[in-house]
Amino acid sequence: MYLNKIDFQGRMIYLITIWIFLITTYSSAFKNLALNKPAWQRTTWPSKPILWGAAKAVDGLYTNRSADGNQCSIAGGNQFTAEWRVDLDSVVSISHINIFYRTDNLQSPGPYYHRFAGYFVYVSNTTQREDGYLCFHEIQQVDRTPTENQTISCPVHGRYVIFYNERRQDVTYPSFYSQYVYNELCEVEVYGCPVQRYYGENCDLPCPENCQEQRCSITTGECLGCVPGYKGPRCSQACEKETYGLECLSLCGNCSDSGECDNVNGTCLNGCKEGAQGDKCQTQCQLGRFGESCLQNCSSHCYVSSHCNRFNGECLGGCDHGWKNLDCKQECDDGKFGYNCNQSCGRCSDGLQCDKINGTCLNGCSPGFSGNLCDIVCPPGFFGTHCLGVV
Ligand SMILES: *[C@@H]1O[C@H](CO)[C@@H](O)[C@H](O)[C@H]1NC(C)=O
Ligand SMILES: *[C@@H]1O[C@H](CO)[C@@H](O)[C@H](O)[C@H]1NC(C)=O
Ligand SMILES: *[C@@H]1O[C@H](CO)[C@@H](O)[C@H](O)[C@H]1NC(C)=O
Ligand SMILES: *[C@@H]1O[C@H](CO)[C@@H](O)[C@H](O)[C@H]1NC(C)=O
Ligand SMILES: *[C@@H]1O[C@H](CO)[C@@H](O)[C@H](O)[C@H]1NC(C)=O
Repeated sequence: MYLNKIDFQGRMIYLITIWIFLITTYSSAFKNLALNKPAWQRTTWPSKPILWGAAKAVDGLYTNRSADGNQCSIAGGNQFTAEWRVDLDSVVSISHINIFYRTDNLQSPGPYYHRFAGYFVYVSNTTQREDGYLCFHEIQQVDRTPTENQTISCPVHGRYVIFYNERRQDVTYPSFYSQYVYNELCEVEVYGCPVQRYYGENCDLPCPENCQEQRCSITTGECLGCVPGYKGPRCSQACEKETYGLECLSLCGNCSDSGECDNVNGTCLNGCKEGAQGDKCQTQCQLGRFGESCLQNCSSHCYVSSHCNRFNGECLGGCDHGWKNLDCKQECDDGKFGYNCNQSCGRCSDGLQCDKINGTCLNGCSPGFSGNLCDIVCPPGFFGTHCLGVV
């Protein structure tokens, strides 16, 4: 079929578009963060002329998986433990780890799976595997396992990836296990996002803003923890009413109105309920204060000076002479006086009016009575004002 020039160009553009799409899709997937990073191993097979150092497992080369290929790290012989690690330079967000074990370029199962068997993979923030997260460990029970290509999902954050294996004297291993262990690692690839606050296969999706330390799951984008004041998988929900702080586990103090407080720091937004004070309304009123946010002073007429109930201002111990009501803010009614206005005036001249504090009749007594309080009946033989009349 004859293609004219326009058709030809159209098809080329179409093919190039597909090609660019495939290239970008492929190349922007998780990066191998271990490539050429500093690596270490506990022992190295005595090395001449070929080098079997730890760095061989992060050199990007594993087309020749024999000892002679110069692409594998190989631990020293006759060891009961083997340990290798790579330092990823900083805490990164890991997706998965690929291990390419030695095969001598033979079909799987090759000659070395029995040395690989029983291995451990850790991700740690220190060079100590005990400090880290155990991504994988298994005592394989089936002969000819594990296969030499392993992919281990380990979506955690960390700095060191540690390969470890051991043969313990106190453990009975399946009979196909080697006597000694090695780390014959032709390549260890650690895929993930170099900057931990991004996730997704392209490492271009920012973690939700309220994730603690901006860290989230590399696959789902769910936060690994929330900053104080938020909850939910993406930390998008503010703490519910009356709770605040880390994981919304703190309870608001005695805030006024609806009882709500700032979801982050617990500060009450509209002051405190009766009896409480402070930013968070978690402190009781100091002596002498009461009411909302402790803004009111106890009555100066409380019998025990300034002691009142912090919620309602009720004087503890009653009222001073001349004052009444629970808060001691009202003078005695006419005709009453004394502590809590408990006493009645005597027979004062001006119709039962007396000093509200001490009961003294200010304008003398009614005829027939005497005394400061006019509560003394004239003695026999006397009568009238001040008992001055004589019968
Ligand atoms: C691996 O390297 C060795 C040493 O250079 C060589 O003899 C062997 O042919 C290589 N094997 C493969 C499969 O490349
Ligand atoms: C490493 O440290 C980060 C905090 O910087 C923490 O989120 C992460 O869980 C730690 N990783 C491990 C494996 O302990
Ligand atoms: C193991 O990985 C190598 C390198 O990617 C690949 O060539 C080989 O086919 C894989 N072998 C198996 C059994 O998957
Ligand atoms: C608590 O947070 C609120 C709102 O951001 C702020 O106005 C207040 O000053 C904070 N209080 C304290 C004690 O940090
Ligand atoms: C908060 O209110 C409760 C219930 O009324 C009360 O028992 C508690 O003493 C109050 N706390 C403060 C600090 O006022």
